[in-house]
Amino acid sequence: MNEIPDRTQILRWLHENNPDQLDALWRRADEVRRVYVGDAVHLRGLVEISNHCVRKCAYCGLRVSNRSVARYRLSALEILDAARKAAALGCGTVVLQSGEDPGITVDWLGNVIRAIKSETALAVTLSLGERSKEELAQWRQAGADRYLLRFETSDPNLFNAIHPARAGNIGVRSREGHPRIAILRTLRRLGFETGSGIMVGIPGQSIESIAEDISVFRELNLDMIGIGPFIPHPATPLGGACDRARSSPAHARTLMTDPELMAYKTVALSRLVRPDANIPATTALATINKQNGRELGLRRGANVVMPNCTPLKYRKLYEIYPAKACIDENTQDAGESLSARLQRIGRHAGSGSGRRNPFVHLAAP
Ligand code: 5AD
Repeated sequence: MNEIPDRTQILRWLHENNPDQLDALWRRADEVRRVYVGDAVHLRGLVEISNHCVRKCAYCGLRVSNRSVARYRLSALEILDAARKAAALGCGTVVLQSGEDPGITVDWLGNVIRAIKSETALAVTLSLGERSKEELAQWRQAGADRYLLRFETSDPNLFNAIHPARAGNIGVRSREGHPRIAILRTLRRLGFETGSGIMVGIPGQSIESIAEDISVFRELNLDMIGIGPFIPHPATPLGGACDRARSSPAHARTLMTDPELMAYKTVALSRLVRPDANIPATTALATINKQNGRELGLRRGANVVMPNCTPLKYRKLYEIYPAKACIDENTQDAGESLSARLQRIGRHAGSGSGRRNPFVHLAAP
C-alpha cells in the first residue's frame, strides 16, 4: 500500500505550504503508521544521566564553553531508581541520555546497564554521544539494546560549522566521512537497534539537504528516527546568530520560515520512507508548540513518546534548548495526562519493549 516517494516527490512535499495539499501528506503518513506499527504509542522513559559535555556544538546549551550550567551526574542508585519509576509509569524502555561525558566510564555504565536488565524487564537505550567502538561493544555486551545518535544534518559543510571536531580530529569532508554516520554503521554491526535523526531549521540548512537527510534515513535502514525543530539557545553561537539574523533582512533568509511545519513534513516523509521505524513525537516539537506539538507529531507519522523521567531536581539543568517541555512535570502526572491525551486522539500506550519489528508488514492487510 505504501508507495515510497522518490527524491523529486520528497522535495515537492518539503516545498509545499498549502494546508489543503499538506492534509493529503498527513493522512497518508497516518495511514502508513497505522498499517505498519499500529495505534499503540510506545513510551520510552528518558533519564538525563549527566549534563557534562566535552564538545562545543554551536547549537546546544550543554556545550563545554557554557560556564553558566551547573553540571551534574546521577549516581548508579539514582539511575536505577529512575528506571524503576519509568517502568511503573508504563514505559517498556529506559533511555539513558547525557552529554559527551568521559566521566561516564565503560565499567561503571556497564554495571548500571546490568543492574537495570537484571531488576526490570526494560529495554535499555543509550544516547551518550560519540563513544569509541570498544566502549559501545562493552555496553552492548552488558545488555544495552539500542543506541541513539542523531547525525543532525547530512550536509558536510553545515555539520562542520555547527559541530567542531574533537581536538586532533579532522572535520567532515564528505557524507561518507560523516563521523556520526560511521558510528551508526558500527552500532548496527555490534547488534544495536540503531536510531538517528536531525534538527530541522538550523540556520543555513537548505530544504534540499533535508531531502538528502530523509534519503539517508532510508539508506541506513534506521530502526528509530528522531526529528525536532531547532530551538535557539541564547548561550550558544547559533542562538546569537539567530538573533542577529532576525534583526537583519540580509541574513534573515538563512532562517527557515516555519521550522515547526517543516519538522512535521519531515516526520511524515520519514514514515513514508521507513514505514516500520519507531518515530517519536519529540520533546522539541512539544516545546515549540506546547499546546499540541506532541499530538500533531503523533497524527502525522510518529508512534513513540519519551516522557521525561529524570529526577525533578536535575531536570532544569539539562537545558539543551530553553523552555523545554516537561521541565516541571512530575513523572507520575506526566503519565496520567499522557494516557488521557493519547486516548483523545484514538491511540493508547503500548505494552512491552516496543522494538522495531521489520517483518510486521508481512502480516499487514
Ligand atoms: N534545538 C533543538 N534540538 C537540539 N538538540 C540539541 N540542541 C538543540 C537545539 N538548540 C538536539 C540534537 C541532539 C539531541 C539530543 O537534541 O539533535 O542530538
